[in-house]
Amino acid sequence: MSNLRTRLRAVPTLTGKPPAFDPAQTPGEPHGLFVDWLTTAIDNGVPEPCATTLSTVDETGRPSGRILILKNVDERGWQFASSAGSRKGRELATHPLAALTFYWVPLGRQVRITGTATPADPAESLADLMARPPSARTQADWTLYTLDADEVEFWQADPDRNHLRLRYDRSSDGAWTKGLL
Ligand SMILES: Cc1cc2nc3c(=O)[nH]c(=O)nc-3n(C[C@H](O)[C@H](O)[C@H](O)COP(=O)(O)O)c2cc1C
Repeated sequence: MSNLRTRLRAVPTLTGKPPAFDPAQTPGEPHGLFVDWLTTAIDNGVPEPCATTLSTVDETGRPSGRILILKNVDERGWQFASSAGSRKGRELATHPLAALTFYWVPLGRQVRITGTATPADPAESLADLMARPPSARTQADWTLYTLDADEVEFWQADPDRNHLRLRYDRSSDGAWTKGLL
């Protein structure tokens, strides 16, 4: 076991090639920049670019995370779908604050999104269920959720370790501010 630490240290990390990125040229809200980064990941053949970690907490504050698939992003927020009766579904029902974390390895890019998840209306959830392959339509309580973000951080690796972090914060009046960390 003592070898493991040495072995792990030898495993390369942040091996991706970050694209050109100028924080001064970014929009005032994070949604468009996220879609730009996501489509860049898709266009560059990043494996499973829509896979994301959803973090939730239960009523005692105990966290849990799992991977799921991003379904859409629009001005309302980031959409994902799951069974309302699952652990995450139960946790979101009692504690709707949640986070999504993306990591696109070949691009050296991470995005962290925090906000409030709300279930979509039943018609939208049903439409998402019907868009799944027939074998995956057996979920009785399939729900589409929208994460209405109030904090989004864009992180890009730098070969010299001056990693770039651009964070957007939404204030209670709905206005977004952004800044480099
Ligand atoms: C690549 C990948 C994609 C997944 N996509 C979804 C998804 O879109 N929705 C979902 O409910 N679970 C998805 N899962 C399964 C979840 O990770 C998780 O195991 C399951 O939803 C139960 O989580 P829970 O017990 O915390 O609620 C996916 C797993 C992987 C590895």
